[in-house]
Amino acid sequence: MNTHKPCSAFWNARPAPAVRVRAIPHGRLPREIEDYSAYEGEHRKRQIEIAVQLFEAMGIERHDAERRQDWVMRGFRQFDAPVSIVVCFDKSLLNNTIAHFDTGAMTYGLVLAAWSKGLGAVINGQGIMQSPVVREVADIPDDQVILTCVALGWPDDGFVANSVVSRRRPISHVTRFLGFDD
Ligand SMILES: Cc1cc2nc3c(=O)[nH]c(=O)nc-3n(C[C@H](O)[C@H](O)[C@H](O)COP(=O)(O)O)c2cc1C
Repeated sequence: MNTHKPCSAFWNARPAPAVRVRAIPHGRLPREIEDYSAYEGEHRKRQIEIAVQLFEAMGIERHDAERRQDWVMRGFRQFDAPVSIVVCFDKSLLNNTIAHFDTGAMTYGLVLAAWSKGLGAVINGQGIMQSPVVREVADIPDDQVILTCVALGWPDDGFVANSVVSRRRPISHVTRFLGFDD
């Protein structure tokens, strides 16, 4: 059935210990979203900034390759959350940017709904970097594009990374108010 609506697959991340992260051919991560490109300029700067904040909170030193790698693997493992939601949309909509927007909005709604029930969620782009593995394990149909995934579980307030708050650009930098008095 082709509903043309964002869909998601749910699976419990724990019972699949046999799955291993595979070697990445030509160093390129096999995501399915077309034209996925690395952040540059200000965006790259902010990406690094949040990584530094996280590593500082976790006490992971810059030279500590082992612990940095462990953090990356944690992302691949959906932060060891009990549930991972794989967010997809119809392949026929791949070049329709509105579909990407719609699926993102759906994902945000999902995260807010989970939060309203006391659950914690992390939209986790890292979790689909090995999309072929995700497709196989979660049995995603071929007519779906894997966009992202969401790690879902009960929040652990004692986990220091959860206390990291990203820097916000001031509203005045990103918004212009027209037709309002001060
Ligand atoms: C599209 C998208 C992809 C994300 N991918 C990751 C990821 O791979 N790893 C991660 O730790 N967090 C990821 N996050 C979560 C963010 O790092 C961040 O914790 C979350 O969006 C909350 O945003 P804030 O810190 O700006 O409030 C992602 C968020 C979004 C919206």
